[in-house]
Amino acid sequence: MDYQAVLAEVWDAVRPVLGQGRVATYIPALAAVDPRRFGMALATVEGDVYGIGDWREPFSIQSISKVFTLALALSRDGDALWRRVGKEPSGNPFNSLVQLEYEQGIPRNPFINAGALVITDRLQRLTGDSRGTLRDFLRAESGNPLVDFDPVIAASEAEHGHRNRALAHFMASYGNMESAVPEVLEHYFWQCSLAMSCADLAKACGFLARHGQRADGSRLLTRSQAKQVNAVMLTCGTYDAAGEFAYRVGLPGKSGVGGGIIAVIPNRCGLCVWSPGLDARGNSVAGVEALDRFTTLTGLSIF
Ligand code: DON
Repeated sequence: MDYQAVLAEVWDAVRPVLGQGRVATYIPALAAVDPRRFGMALATVEGDVYGIGDWREPFSIQSISKVFTLALALSRDGDALWRRVGKEPSGNPFNSLVQLEYEQGIPRNPFINAGALVITDRLQRLTGDSRGTLRDFLRAESGNPLVDFDPVIAASEAEHGHRNRALAHFMASYGNMESAVPEVLEHYFWQCSLAMSCADLAKACGFLARHGQRADGSRLLTRSQAKQVNAVMLTCGTYDAAGEFAYRVGLPGKSGVGGGIIAVIPNRCGLCVWSPGLDARGNSVAGVEALDRFTTLTGLSIF
């Protein structure tokens, strides 16, 4: 398949929606980005990379980090991890507090903020350095040693992180935090601040297209665990819009409020699209449109 030609066609098709949606403003440093930016990259399991637009431009990965922290924690903890976090769609916004009380401090899934805080807590206990473990993994998988945190974004999020603090303390009150809450939040904020390009992220999610095998041929996840992570991405990766995303795109995907979305086509490639204008549920408007066009044009969905 001529991926470069397909991507060019996708780019043409999304032009009318570029600039639609609103950039995230609840983390003030994210609000400075031009909503008309657009990039998309595809990295095959064989190692070829294709891209269009701003595909080499680093952006704030935000919640896309949650896929990688889940994989890193699951690889070390195995099924024990699921005692502290569920694997059901929440049907609620990513930063919602309501379910946590009547579900006794166990978050619905690892991709809503509460679930990602639990995963960060676990990864911190398992490695002693959650954010460093994540950064090193992403450098290795993307092949880009320059992948790094953005201290301005991390500071902005810490300053305005009242909701995440509330979530973490609430879970601590149910005994679902092992480390001190400020330590967990610090790692979480830095993880979300990582800056990566579409090319970096398309390569970095390759292990999920290779059934758990890393870029160097070693194994992070068992085949079964890679299936589990992909399945949770499909059902929970775009929060209360996961049904719509599965309907339109038909791939496991994970969004972030920086405007990025990664998606996985098992056995074939990792994809990443970036455009900062978000819909009401925090997913990139042009990003979802581009992935919808891509699977429609190519027939490459998992269904
Ligand atoms: O914790 C937060 O609210 C952000 N750092 C990440 C949220 C996010 O990316 C949700 N995704 N669409």
